[in-house]
Amino acid sequence: MFDLDFPLSIAPMMEWTDRHYRFLMRKITQKTILYTEMVTAEAILRGNQEKLLGKSEDGPCVLQLGGDSPEKILQAARIGAEFCYDALNLNVGCPSERVQNGSFGACLMKEPNLVAELMLAMAEGSKLPVSVKHRIGVNGLESYDDLSKFVQIVHERGKTNHFIVHARIAILEGLSPSENRNIPPLRYDDVHRLKKDFPHLKIEINGGIKDLNDAIFQIDSGIDAVMIGRAAYENPMIFRFADSIFTNQGINSDLEKKNSINIMNPESFNWDKLNEEIEMYLSDWVAQGGRIHTVLRHALGFFYGQKGGRIFRRYLSENMHKSPSDIRLFKNAIASSGVLD
Ligand SMILES: Cc1cc2nc3c(=O)[nH]c(=O)nc-3n(C[C@H](O)[C@H](O)[C@H](O)COP(=O)(O)O)c2cc1C
Repeated sequence: MFDLDFPLSIAPMMEWTDRHYRFLMRKITQKTILYTEMVTAEAILRGNQEKLLGKSEDGPCVLQLGGDSPEKILQAARIGAEFCYDALNLNVGCPSERVQNGSFGACLMKEPNLVAELMLAMAEGSKLPVSVKHRIGVNGLESYDDLSKFVQIVHERGKTNHFIVHARIAILEGLSPSENRNIPPLRYDDVHRLKKDFPHLKIEINGGIKDLNDAIFQIDSGIDAVMIGRAAYENPMIFRFADSIFTNQGINSDLEKKNSINIMNPESFNWDKLNEEIEMYLSDWVAQGGRIHTVLRHALGFFYGQKGGRIFRRYLSENMHKSPSDIRLFKNAIASSGVLD
């Protein structure tokens, strides 16, 4: 069991936060809490459990479940716990049609009593800490009072103490999932108000957080924890200072004393070690019949915004399909692009 008090996490993202991405992120930050992609209870009960739930990385990791049947969630949670996750999370934020057809995800915001049952089932099945990730509302239930009622019911009836709040409503008809992550405006004030009204709950904010400075701002404003999604995928190296900037109590006091130069030492990242670890990982993966692009597609953003970063990205994306077993490709992409020169 790993420590879950660290105030920073990387959001669950389908197709993105798979075991390979999480392996790579663990080489950048040991303390940040990682989330799996959402796995539905149905898939766990019927599918290849090792493929769906197997992990390649160490450190704190939370399994996100999707579903609307307490019985199935209980069974899936029991199985999930056998795969050594540190906590479980329920998806009440995803607006995709596929998810809505199963009538779970964001549309569960309309059914807080059912969410409470699902939370009890998840805790009972897994015997692990549980949390719920939700929106500030859905169309038709958009006010702060609706949000506050949802949290109150899920807390009181579902015995849930950790709420991860994506600070946008979800529009359940007419917007694609991607539009639903951009078009409804961010309402951070609602999340801050939630923390004031429920000071005993752990309130984690999500949505539009671009970097660790934004995260520091949120923690300074009294929010307990910050979850970063797209920015963590597009620019993974923003997390290289996460372990020194944050502590379980919030922000490292050395940073507050403006001693940030030591903390943010640009020399501190050991690229040789990373190269070596990636090569070992790829070597195992290729030996199992895997292709390197399954892993290295998650490394395309490693030099985002840096000199040579685009050349690195192009080199990697052009060659990872051409040479599916070339375990030295990451190292060669660094050398060819000059990103570290
Ligand atoms: C490609 C992609 C897949 C996502 N899949 C999930 C998911 O499986 N479960 C979930 O709760 N949210 C999912 N989300 C939403 C994110 O977890 C997060 O709430 C959202 O992107 C807002 O945070 P951000 O602005 O930091 O990206 C996904 C987002 C993206 C971009």
